[in-house]
Amino acid sequence: MKKALNYSGLLQMKIKTFIKRTIKAVLPLRTILFIQKSIDNITLEKKRRLNHYKNKDILKFDMNYDKSTVCKYPFSFVEICADGSVKPCCGYWNIIGQFGKYLYTNFEEIWNSDNAKKMRKSCWAGDYDYCNLDLCFPAFVSKENFKSNYDHKRGTCNTYPNKVKFAYDKSCNVNCIMCRDEVITNNYKQTERLDSFVKPLFLPMLKDAKLVELSGYGELFASKHSIKLIKEIIKVYPEIKFAIHSNGILCNEKNCIDIFGSIEKIDNVNLSIHAATKETYEKIVKNGNFAACMENIKWLSLQKKLGTIKSLALGFCVHALNYREMKMFLEKAILLDIGVSFWLYQPWGTNMDENYKNYSVWDINHPEYNDIVELLKDPIFNDSHCSMNKMLNDLRK
Ligand SMILES: C[S@@+](CC[C@H](N)C(=O)[O-])C[C@H]1O[C@@H](n2cnc3c(N)ncnc32)[C@H](O)[C@@H]1O
Ligand code: SF4
Ligand code: SF4
Repeated sequence: MKKALNYSGLLQMKIKTFIKRTIKAVLPLRTILFIQKSIDNITLEKKRRLNHYKNKDILKFDMNYDKSTVCKYPFSFVEICADGSVKPCCGYWNIIGQFGKYLYTNFEEIWNSDNAKKMRKSCWAGDYDYCNLDLCFPAFVSKENFKSNYDHKRGTCNTYPNKVKFAYDKSCNVNCIMCRDEVITNNYKQTERLDSFVKPLFLPMLKDAKLVELSGYGELFASKHSIKLIKEIIKVYPEIKFAIHSNGILCNEKNCIDIFGSIEKIDNVNLSIHAATKETYEKIVKNGNFAACMENIKWLSLQKKLGTIKSLALGFCVHALNYREMKMFLEKAILLDIGVSFWLYQPWGTNMDENYKNYSVWDINHPEYNDIVELLKDPIFNDSHCSMNKMLNDLRK
């Protein structure tokens, strides 16, 4: 027995050495160091979160936990990702990782997989063992909402999600520094490959969907594939409405009508802008167009006033380059009656991650930590138009 263990240990070591040597032969040293550094940053962040969650009493107290409610995501929503995974909410919000892989498993099995059941049971019980409650934006609703479709003993749901977010198409017209280091667009072959998933894989997931959100990864207005996906969905499910998540540059009247057929198909719009001034915007959104965003925000806010779209919100991913503009950004949004969400930059594998420490102004060791804490004391951040994730909110206490 001992011999067998030694042998398998030796074999594992040999495999590891072989993998390391192959990687070294293929990748230049700078890339290896960069990847290693990003992994270190991510691991540290994960450890920090897990430590935080050891003290659940703090968590429940902070979240004003109410046992008659539950976060609706694992019961009614999925996010479809580029690595083939199906997630219960944004990938860096939860710890469970995924419910399954759409490329290998049919959706019926994924939706009621072991991970799905574990996650639902934990949320239902109020433990939130698989959740990053200080980073995510949970949506607590009455448990009554799931009485008819959720079996709380088994953890299974008998209806498919009513909201599906497509977050697998990386094609985009710009490169925001926290998201990618260069503009990435699908070539012909990549577009063809994604197109081939639409009918067999994606459309069946939408059986009970009322809302489809996109894009969670790239930019729908800059992707032939995403535009085709939307048109196919409208053909098969004419009653489905859309939630747009966009950088705002191409989100104008002409493009919306060309793609969706009518503005009425759009339920709500969420634009990520990250800056109140052109100068700061250009440091963050490379190859962007601040003026076009401002024009489109004005047009969209008019659509909201007219009641054509239900809601309009702006997103602001906070880090050292832009936190000083949070207040001005919110002031401008309030004037137009638009909601704002603030959240934290997380290492996503870009060059920016090499200086993660310098950008994470919310870290108590950051030289500008006191400045952001002071800034967040401003009463404007209590305004009903403002929402922020828990970690940012905690800086205000
Ligand atoms: C990948 S984008 C896709 C949708 C659209 N292109 C946009 O920018 O809104 C989805 C969201 O991820 C955010 N994001 C990008 N990189 C991030 C990072 N490193 N940390 C936190 N959020 C990030 C963006 O700000 C955006 O709101
Ligand atoms: S509580 Fe947060 S991490 Fe958990 S399911 Fe809801 S949004 Fe996701
Ligand atoms: S616009 Fe969205 S997808 Fe494109 S680079 Fe910026 S954050 Fe990423």
